[in-house]
Amino acid sequence: MSDSKGKVELIVNGKRMDGRSADDLRDVKIQVGIINEADGSAYVEWGGNKIVCGIYGPRECIPRHGASPYHALIKCRYMMSPFSSLEEHSRSGPSRRSNELSKVIREVFENLIIAEKFPNTQIDIFIDVLQADGGTRTASITAAAVALANAGIPMKDMVSAVAVGKAGDMLALDLNKLEDNFGKSDMPLAISNRDKKILLVQMDGLLTKEEVMEMVDMVEKGCEKVHHIQTEALKRFYQDGNEKVKW
Ligand code: CDP
Repeated sequence: MSDSKGKVELIVNGKRMDGRSADDLRDVKIQVGIINEADGSAYVEWGGNKIVCGIYGPRECIPRHGASPYHALIKCRYMMSPFSSLEEHSRSGPSRRSNELSKVIREVFENLIIAEKFPNTQIDIFIDVLQADGGTRTASITAAAVALANAGIPMKDMVSAVAVGKAGDMLALDLNKLEDNFGKSDMPLAISNRDKKILLVQMDGLLTKEEVMEMVDMVEKGCEKVHHIQTEALKRFYQDGNEKVKW
């Protein structure tokens, strides 16, 4: 929706464009173990985002001279498919943005995976965004956590991630693409479930200290909900005898 000056109006009558209130998440669905050839995998539909994550490893480190005798190397490759959004239309391959996202996602898991258990190996996290609708880095972290659990990779804690920002003047949880692209601020966060450690924080725009504190609280509550969905997805996979295509 845009006003007479062509500006996108993100809040109409106190509601967000998709009818959500400030602290509502979009619909989140997670499916575990969808890739036969990966050691662990997960598929996430989060609003309009569709993201697949496949895990390989621990496996031999390539190139070998890069291996560490003390721990597994964690590698991450985040990629948007050419058809994932208008911006990515017919474009393929890495970009500065995908390199940045691969790095920040990798760092989240470097702080969680008990890599000392697997010296001289690597653990690969492959993330493919099939459809993008704002919050792909947070949805990717959420998917990768589940996929790593599915691969049996030991972690100190589980992690969930949600972005928060400012749509118009409203603090709003889980920004969709329009809110992300046209909002005043955007702050993706990843929080570990048990220890409540912030494992990722990035920020665009201007925020006051009070707003940041309130937004961290909003994300913490959102992450609790996402964690529940992650756990339920894993339970469904193991309790239902690895049946496929079940939400
Ligand atoms: O996806 P995330 O919010 O983590 O990252 P972003 O760089 O803030 O991008 C916000 C949204 O803009 C993405 O989720 C996509 O929907 C869209 N986008 C895109 O379609 N193509 C790009 N090259 C970059 C962003």
